[in-house]
Amino acid sequence: MSKPIKRIAVNTGGGDAPGLNAVIQSVVIAAANRGWDCFGIRDGFNGILFPERYSEGGVARLTRDRVRGIGHLGGTILGTTNKGNPLHFPVNMPDGTVREIDRSDEILTYFATHEIDALVSIGGDGSLTIANALHQKGLRVVGVPKTIDNDLDKTFTTFGFDTAVGFATECLDRLHSTAESHQRVMVVEVMGRYAGWIALHTGIAGNAHAVLIPEIPFDLDKIAAKLRARDSEGRLYSIVVVAEGAQARDGHRELLAAAEVGHAERLGGVGERIAHALTERTGKETRVVVLGHLLRGGSPTSFDRLSALRFGAAAVRALDEGQSGIMVSLGLDGVDYVALEEVAGRMKAVPLDCDTLQTGRDLGICFGD
Ligand code: F6P
Repeated sequence: MSKPIKRIAVNTGGGDAPGLNAVIQSVVIAAANRGWDCFGIRDGFNGILFPERYSEGGVARLTRDRVRGIGHLGGTILGTTNKGNPLHFPVNMPDGTVREIDRSDEILTYFATHEIDALVSIGGDGSLTIANALHQKGLRVVGVPKTIDNDLDKTFTTFGFDTAVGFATECLDRLHSTAESHQRVMVVEVMGRYAGWIALHTGIAGNAHAVLIPEIPFDLDKIAAKLRARDSEGRLYSIVVVAEGAQARDGHRELLAAAEVGHAERLGGVGERIAHALTERTGKETRVVVLGHLLRGGSPTSFDRLSALRFGAAAVRALDEGQSGIMVSLGLDGVDYVALEEVAGRMKAVPLDCDTLQTGRDLGICFGD
């Protein structure tokens, strides 16, 4: 039987996503209702690793008052970072090189010294991999799945995804009229890392004519043929949605920046490349819209807000039940728990036989194959 909990901490890691504040609010209130104190760690684990950076403390008590009225706000009141994984922390060496060191013991020591019994870690793949490692080193941890990309395994969805798709779909709705008025091809690049969820759902909901996702390597000639076919039917404009991680048949992927120690590669630029190639092939005028970080901003939809509140409360319930090393997940029957080990380091790609993709094909959308 694990020792009863009195104090917990919560942090947010990786790229922000709408709904983070709702999870924090839910964790704090569900903990307070059990008589537990809750502490927020700033900027991933930086609040512990670099306390000197924070005049009000790198780890601060989160009261009910502090989280009142934040559930509908985008971003995270705790701050976040997608640099500086404590397991592979980049350190500048005197010879100018950068080396990675493991600083996870400093986190465990902090929890022990400050008598914090458990951590609720809200994050995507990277953060949940860290959470799993901390759990294996003896910390009580529950993970909460966050990402606009929806690329986390073992959960039906992550919070943030619905908001991103809703906003991107609204953008497509707006682009149809200007594309049609000018008889142009609008290429809309969306985030999603190596998974095509955002592009697929946005493209279908927003009536795109071509959707390019990383799971289906694209052939530019096939997309050009689709545009020409539309032209010949008198439909002189087209909307092409492309995921930032989409790749051509030769496996080439556009990058804004290569990976460096402590930071993953930055995807982007495929929209420009496709627009240029389509103009060359069809003679049509093209314009590119990169939705980028706009997809991460704004208020969470009610679906994401509700998922976030359910996840936060479920994380606290799990800790109360003595569980650890798990992630809260959303199944079709409601909230469930899965082992972090089953999630860490795995990516959920769009299955090629899923009905959403099939729907797109039935509607005549070109997937570049
Ligand atoms: O994982 C979320 C995400 O928004 C991806 O879709 C995107 O590739 C990445 O983060 C961008 O990260 P950054 O904030 O470093 O630009």
